[in-house]
Amino acid sequence: MPTMAIIGSQWGDEGKGKIVDLLSEKAEIIARYQGGTNAGHTVVIDGKQFILHLIPSGILRPKTICVIGNGVVVDLEAMVRELEELESLGIKVAGRLLVSDRAHIIMPYHRELDGADEDMRGSNGIGTTRRGIGPAYSDKTSRLGIRLGDLGNLKLFKQKVERALREKNFLLTGHYRRQRLSAAKVIADTLVAYRCVKSVVADTTTYLNEAISKGKRVLVEGAQGVMLDVDFGTYPYCTSSNPTAGGICTGLGIPPRDVGKIYGVTKAYTTRVGAGPFPTELNDRMGKTLRQAGAEYGATTGRPRRCGWLDLPVVRYSAQLNGFAGLFLTKLDVLSGIKKIKVCTAYKCKGKLLKTVPGNVEELAACKPVYKEVPGWDENIVGCNDIKKLPLAARRYIQFIEKESGVKVSLISTGNDRKHTILRGEKFF
Ligand code: GDP
Ligand code: IMO
Ligand code: MG
Repeated sequence: MPTMAIIGSQWGDEGKGKIVDLLSEKAEIIARYQGGTNAGHTVVIDGKQFILHLIPSGILRPKTICVIGNGVVVDLEAMVRELEELESLGIKVAGRLLVSDRAHIIMPYHRELDGADEDMRGSNGIGTTRRGIGPAYSDKTSRLGIRLGDLGNLKLFKQKVERALREKNFLLTGHYRRQRLSAAKVIADTLVAYRCVKSVVADTTTYLNEAISKGKRVLVEGAQGVMLDVDFGTYPYCTSSNPTAGGICTGLGIPPRDVGKIYGVTKAYTTRVGAGPFPTELNDRMGKTLRQAGAEYGATTGRPRRCGWLDLPVVRYSAQLNGFAGLFLTKLDVLSGIKKIKVCTAYKCKGKLLKTVPGNVEELAACKPVYKEVPGWDENIVGCNDIKKLPLAARRYIQFIEKESGVKVSLISTGNDRKHTILRGEKFF
């Protein structure tokens, strides 16, 4: 099967960007199927850091084709900025990017509404990235959205913006007490950005299906993570799309038969940005140690990430939902120097022992983690690329994760660079 997918198995920021870049060496096409500029995927190549928000991380390889599928919400202005930044860093994008004509556009009023809603909720907010993701997906499902293909008919596009703005301005001024937005300005700004990217808008569904039938190697890049999925995550403290496997078919327009193997990216501990329950969160010195050692600050918003021990019920749940063929374990190096590492193997909730994640956030918030303590290691393992050279305790940690999650660890990441990786002989393409 020439297609494979990579999905974040926790609350996002597992290191998907690094893994996608690594596997893009052999891939011919890299496709994103959901999310938008809320993503922040970091790739480090020879010490040079790139952060991708919308463009698939595979763009950093010179010959790949990158596809933004219909399931992604596209902020045209942010896309133009990202393309300019890539070009300024010497990455040639021309002729290597396609964006679905069915993808919905994040309009300026979506960004405005996202921010206004967060401000109004104050300390009870979701802690969104304020990139307009929720409002754009809401309009998609309420059939008020504007798709990239709509820009081909200027008259209709203007009518759609005017119609949407009648409702949005009512909300912005009446409910949120903000300034109204001018339809003429929204239309003009959108068209300026659209003209810069018009040439990449295409029928990506046909493109991908034809490529797959020709046997091209397609790498599917998930954004966010399972616990942020709008159906399976910690609703309502989640994003507004489906990072889980089902999102691949609806977000790219390819049949389930062609999805191939799905791998989960799992950080050796857990982090989360924004609000919502997080059973293994550490609000103590150890949490700070993890944040410092792992440089856990949001790649999109710069917010400090909440940090905690590895949560195996989450990984088990992710494996169940996505049918992982393997796990890519990242940031193992960050745990060096911790004498005793704790791992959550189950939750205790109202006298019951849970091995997986309950459906209700209030119940999850009431869950107490059941920990197993395992020995840590002192050695610095940054850059280690041979499993035999890992300290015994690190190897035991990996084995423990495999046993408890029921999924083998197919790759181990020991640093942020492409080269800092332990491959275990598995062929991905
Ligand atoms: P993504 O959203 O899943 O792509 O992850 P982010 O890029 O938001 O966050 C992961 C961070 O960890 C980035 O700064 C990466 O450069 C870094 N990173 C990835 N893998 C490793 C690793 O194995 N070890 C260390 N120390 N850093 C890593
Ligand atoms: P990557 O792809 C981590 C979080 C936000 C917030 C919630 C909703 O880099 O892993 P949204 O803006 O999507 O409406 O915010 O989801 N969030 C992420 N957290 N990594 C991400 O992406 C995220 N994208 C959104 O912090 O809690
Ligand atoms: Mg990220």
